[in-house]
Amino acid sequence: MIYLDNAATTFPKPACVRNAMAQCMNCYAANPGRGAHPLSMRASEALFDARNTLAGFFGADPVRTIFTANCTHAINYALKGVLQKGDHVIISSLEHNAVFRPLYQMKTNGTITFDVAKVVPNDDEQTLQNFAACMNDRTRLIFCTHVSNIFGTELPIRKLAALAHKNGLLFGLDAAQSAGVFPLQMGTDGIDLLCVPGHKGLFGPMGTGALLFGENIAPVSIMEGGTGSLSMQAEQPNEYPDRLESGTVNLPGIVGLAAGIHFLNRAGGCAAVHEWEAFLTNTLKEDLSVIRGVRQFDLVQNKDASLLSFVIDGVSVEETAELLGTCGFAVRAGFHCAALAHTSMGTAETGTVRVSPGFFNTKKQIKNFSFSVNQIAMEKKVC
Ligand code: ALA
Repeated sequence: MIYLDNAATTFPKPACVRNAMAQCMNCYAANPGRGAHPLSMRASEALFDARNTLAGFFGADPVRTIFTANCTHAINYALKGVLQKGDHVIISSLEHNAVFRPLYQMKTNGTITFDVAKVVPNDDEQTLQNFAACMNDRTRLIFCTHVSNIFGTELPIRKLAALAHKNGLLFGLDAAQSAGVFPLQMGTDGIDLLCVPGHKGLFGPMGTGALLFGENIAPVSIMEGGTGSLSMQAEQPNEYPDRLESGTVNLPGIVGLAAGIHFLNRAGGCAAVHEWEAFLTNTLKEDLSVIRGVRQFDLVQNKDASLLSFVIDGVSVEETAELLGTCGFAVRAGFHCAALAHTSMGTAETGTVRVSPGFFNTKKQIKNFSFSVNQIAMEKKVC
């Protein structure tokens, strides 16, 4: 099977990630911060190192780097831990349900209000104006995706952060598709709240993610419990990371995530990964553009996305993905958990087939994939 669904999760994982996780499981998977015995101490050390690795990668304070179960968990923390009754939020028209649904829930129960600013591909100024037009006296936060998980569109995040700060607002980022692919630095990029998955561009395992936040923010806990600290106190500890990290952490996963970041650095960093993925995606774009009946949704601003969406006229996206599966290609079809984006870009009727090459794919695989798409478009035949 040729795996082209790296936007959902990267696969395969580097050997160093699998080995680090196995070593943790085999040798020191004790509970970090919950004991003074040697194995717990070793586990604590591994957790400490991993936190420093992750924080260093994004230019964050390790104390304000919180391990979560995934990016959605981090986003929920960012929104529910920071927003207060009466606050207003602005999001983009390309948001994933990980952003849209928590806000919708908070709006439904009367906590907050929010507006959706339309992203205009290839027109940053109009996009910024659309965000600015949504501001009101209660606006507290601009929160948006960095890269659309359906169309690969990159949002002008530095300009949006500047717009937020100029107006006294916070800026939060869903980096589900960009962490590890685009260089991101909290300070330089003006990010107050950064939500990342561990299992995509950072090459870690599923069940890992993180919330990183600046010194100007003090998120409250949305889940309380044991932290291994101040055990005789009824109140949740005030200090980070403990304040937001209740319960035993996923140490084998976190160790794997740190190994993934080390792998990424050794491979040349975000630039090297991004260059290769963009090359494969652009090759695919070119090949698909000459196949009759294939429509691509090429809404990318900077022409270097790592994924693309298409449909074949007369073949449903589900059937297309199924036929591609029988040809040996793994792609995702449907609505990709992002209703807002489909509504905004006119694909709500059909959904799309999404192809997302990864660092381990080859040009030959992409060529073979295009050949199979051609077969399906021409004859609806399986190879
Ligand atoms: N958010 C992931 C995707 O876009 C799972 O497929």
